[in-house]
Amino acid sequence: MTTLGLIGAGVMGRALAQNLADRNVTVVVFDRDAAARSRAAEDSRLIVVPSLGVLLGKLPKPRAVLLMVNAGRPVESAIADLRPHLERGDIIVDGGNSEWRDTQRRTADLAKEGLDFVGLGVSGGEEGARRGPAMMAGGSEAAYTRIRPWLEAIAARADDGTACADWFGPDAGGHFVKMAHNAIEYGVMQAIAEATQILQHGLGLPYPVMKREADGWAAGNRASYLLELTSDILGRSDGETGRPLLDVISDRAGMKGTGGWAVEAALSLGVAVPTLTEAVFARTLSGQPERKSVVERLGAPAKKGDAKAKTDLGDALFAATLVCYAQGFQLIRAGAAVHGWVKDLGRAARVWQAGCILRAKFLTDITAAYSAEPELPHLLASPAFAKIVAACEPAWRRTVAFAASQGIAAPVLASSLAYLDAMRTAKGATSMIQALRDGFGRHGFERVDKPGTHHADWS
Ligand code: 6PG
Repeated sequence: MTTLGLIGAGVMGRALAQNLADRNVTVVVFDRDAAARSRAAEDSRLIVVPSLGVLLGKLPKPRAVLLMVNAGRPVESAIADLRPHLERGDIIVDGGNSEWRDTQRRTADLAKEGLDFVGLGVSGGEEGARRGPAMMAGGSEAAYTRIRPWLEAIAARADDGTACADWFGPDAGGHFVKMAHNAIEYGVMQAIAEATQILQHGLGLPYPVMKREADGWAAGNRASYLLELTSDILGRSDGETGRPLLDVISDRAGMKGTGGWAVEAALSLGVAVPTLTEAVFARTLSGQPERKSVVERLGAPAKKGDAKAKTDLGDALFAATLVCYAQGFQLIRAGAAVHGWVKDLGRAARVWQAGCILRAKFLTDITAAYSAEPELPHLLASPAFAKIVAACEPAWRRTVAFAASQGIAAPVLASSLAYLDAMRTAKGATSMIQALRDGFGRHGFERVDKPGTHHADWS
């Protein structure tokens, strides 16, 4: 397949179209917006057309059309516009961050007319789209086989030279893995934000020193794209005022939905992702207007810096980062088990090695851990990662204690540690929960010494 239709010539769509053109794929581009069409037409290799009808007329059959429009209503209306003109065997590829349940519904709906639908998670932002993104596809295997050559042509390359593009199962397999990717992204970014907050407000360090520390966090195998970007940010000034960039950015996070959808999915699948959830709610909390009155009434917490805490941060951040990845992988596994998607977690780890926001050196080791033991029950239970976490643990505990003593909110650093402790406690606190439930509501409990549901005698 050497000719592809692309709808949506925004930043990501245009970058992907140019990447495809670099690989000698003919791309016919349409956007409803005339200004977006003009910008796309600046690249003379792209065939930019004024209507959907012209686009479809230029595609050889069976046709493949890639949607690069925003998730939600724009995807819905692009499909509605295309549908009457498509024929059996044509493929629609949705390259946005669509909600996985929407992808399941659309796949089933289009299949009734013999149309294939591929939900394609694309990661890497504009630069990734232009130079080589990571891509997570879902849909029928036959449809994937047809679009695979151009996905592999434009994808980033993993350490072993293979393309960072893979198929993760029918219908929403790809969008689910991309959603888990984004939830991990939320967790890791929140952990980084907490670590830099500790440097700045717990230890009172200036930006140049913070930047040096952040560079240290990325040493060796811990290097990652997000840490690289963190260091860049810490060295930047605002173009208008000359002040440090972070000083002019308001402390209020945006989000487009993928993190929250991951939490909802985890709740319905019954898989615990408390750290990823903390990261989502940290963003929610950042935007709550009540913060202002609480600050005014309670005042900021008292602080007393301890310079020793600085050297602990790298280990704490790395351990918390690994917990975020571990929870994301558990979510993928739970989703795959219920929905019949690809269960091999090593495939997701390999696709994330390059091109995406989560790319990091240690993903090679994560891939190796899952390849060595495909049924590995938990990332932190792999011998290699258990050892790393054990080595990070003392510094991690001191960091969480330090943040609490300083009054610095560190929900992800703290929750990841609590998660580890809860996961490895053979007999946790839940017997008390069960006794209380039975005590007030006769909800029943399981016993350790015999099967069935039991009650205590509350008379
Ligand atoms: C990626 C990113 C990308 C985007 C997120 C941002 O993999 O390239 O995850 O998809 O940055 O959608 O999401 P929020 O706006 O929710 O932070």
